Amino acid sequence: MISIKKSISAHIAEILKKINADAQIDGDTVYAMLEYPPDEKMGDLALPCFKLSKVLRMAPVKIAATIAENFSVDSVARAEALNGYFNIYLDGTYLAKSIVSGVREKGERFGAPTDMGEGKTVVLDYSSPNVAKPFHIGHLGTTVIGHSLKRLHEFAGYKCVGINYLGDWGTQFGKLIVAYRKWGNAELVENGGVDALVDLYVKINNAITDDPALADEARAEFRKLEDGDEENIKLWKWFVEISLAEYQKTYKQLGIEFDSYKGESFYTDKMPAQVQKLRDMGLLKIDDGASIVDLEPYGMTPCLILKRDGSTLYPTRDIAAAVYRKETYDFDKMIYVTSAGQSLHFAQWFKVVELMGYEWFDKLVHVPYGTVSINGAKLATRTGNVILLRDLFAESIAKVEAIMEEKNPDLPDRDKVSEAVGVGAIVFYYLSNNRIRDINFMMEDALSFEGNTGPYVQYTYARTCSVLAKSPDYDKNAELTVTSADETSLLKTLSRFEEVVREAIAAYEPSIVTRYILDVAGAYNRFYHNCSILGAENEQIKNTRLALTEAANTVLGNAFGLICLAKTEKI
Ligand code: ARG
Repeated sequence: MISIKKSISAHIAEILKKINADAQIDGDTVYAMLEYPPDEKMGDLALPCFKLSKVLRMAPVKIAATIAENFSVDSVARAEALNGYFNIYLDGTYLAKSIVSGVREKGERFGAPTDMGEGKTVVLDYSSPNVAKPFHIGHLGTTVIGHSLKRLHEFAGYKCVGINYLGDWGTQFGKLIVAYRKWGNAELVENGGVDALVDLYVKINNAITDDPALADEARAEFRKLEDGDEENIKLWKWFVEISLAEYQKTYKQLGIEFDSYKGESFYTDKMPAQVQKLRDMGLLKIDDGASIVDLEPYGMTPCLILKRDGSTLYPTRDIAAAVYRKETYDFDKMIYVTSAGQSLHFAQWFKVVELMGYEWFDKLVHVPYGTVSINGAKLATRTGNVILLRDLFAESIAKVEAIMEEKNPDLPDRDKVSEAVGVGAIVFYYLSNNRIRDINFMMEDALSFEGNTGPYVQYTYARTCSVLAKSPDYDKNAELTVTSADETSLLKTLSRFEEVVREAIAAYEPSIVTRYILDVAGAYNRFYHNCSILGAENEQIKNTRLALTEAANTVLGNAFGLICLAKTEKI
């Protein structure tokens, strides 16, 4: 659509030049003004001419009429001037030719912008669970939004570095070491994995409430760990390893791989230099023994750099990590995906980076998202009312398995399909909303095959596969001809793909892709129900409809890839 829109814009600009050359309205200006009318009856594209009236010194109605008189473009079936608007109706057959040839030429890259990311690097910091604490549904957002943003940027040609900034350092390890020595043993942790670690962690926290001396013990163990005590380092490494192995199972289900797992611990020796720089620049203030950067002039509470006892804090580590990543990857943009609860933290230390004179401060982007509750219940990590991501997926997969057993017991690879659909249902449901909205997860809604769900769109994808499988050697060189409104409507929807990708990137909003997938699925299903494909009245129409199915299959597949949704050939 972008290229079609561009050539139409250029043509209109030519006509406008004849009306008033001094106004210097070029193709890009017209392009930016073209609208998608809310109702197909009002055209596929429209130019609101009242916006040009002043510069052209002409009444809108007259402008529209003049364009209409002089307008002639291959891609347009019909155009008209109406109430000061110039309305354009695209030609279905032209669209079919351009989309089908694009799909065949570009395949997995169909829809990818080619002028955005080349030569640029984007670092994405996402997922980042805290070791020994549960990997719960609060992490769903950062994990799937983060990965989707990575896929979107990759699609647009950026070189992407996905970083899992593991919470692998901090006093919790002192606690865990004490708990392990008190109640644990190698076998228990070996067999119990992350769950055993979380149990130990909960147990020690409860014990500390009764016996505060244990907290001192934990602090002492953490100090020993910081000082390089061999035994403690060994335990710590092991705890991290076990946790990571568990997280990786979830990442695998989602098709997520990280390029780096450098977590918080990696930056311990990189903080002093930044603290020194802050001190040298006179940016540090002592406040009740702690070192802070005053941000009052910027309307924010102070950014905490060092505690009273000299130990570093979350912002200190983030500053050191950003400096390291700039040196290592020389990014053009670095994206952090976290819950909106951390917005102030990011705003504060981004400001500090700016005050430190790092000229790349404006390349840092925080992408916040809202809270998640499940079936109405808010989760609270502190009271232990947590739902693990792993369990959420397991429940969804089990439910899908039960449905499959009933609906399609002979399906080959039923396990795999159930996993793809079960995981996909959750991802799709989650990514259907604007990320900043708080969402209440209703399992039944997410799993419905009828609603606007993952199973529904995966089912639609499988439908395109099965249509194509029934006609493996149809004539791909056949002349295309579009004969119905449902075909044109599908084509118009398909033609929007690249614009959707651009919008989603610009807004850091995967839900734009999710909603677009629903549009494509809806348009394909209407076409499928209203137009006979294999039984079409003649070969040319049949070949056209198969080619449209092929195009829908490619667009759906490519779009699925952008939101971590698996392509299911059969359901
Ligand atoms: N581990 C943190 C948490 O679970 C998220 C880390 C986000 N990334 C960052 N660079 N601060 O809350």
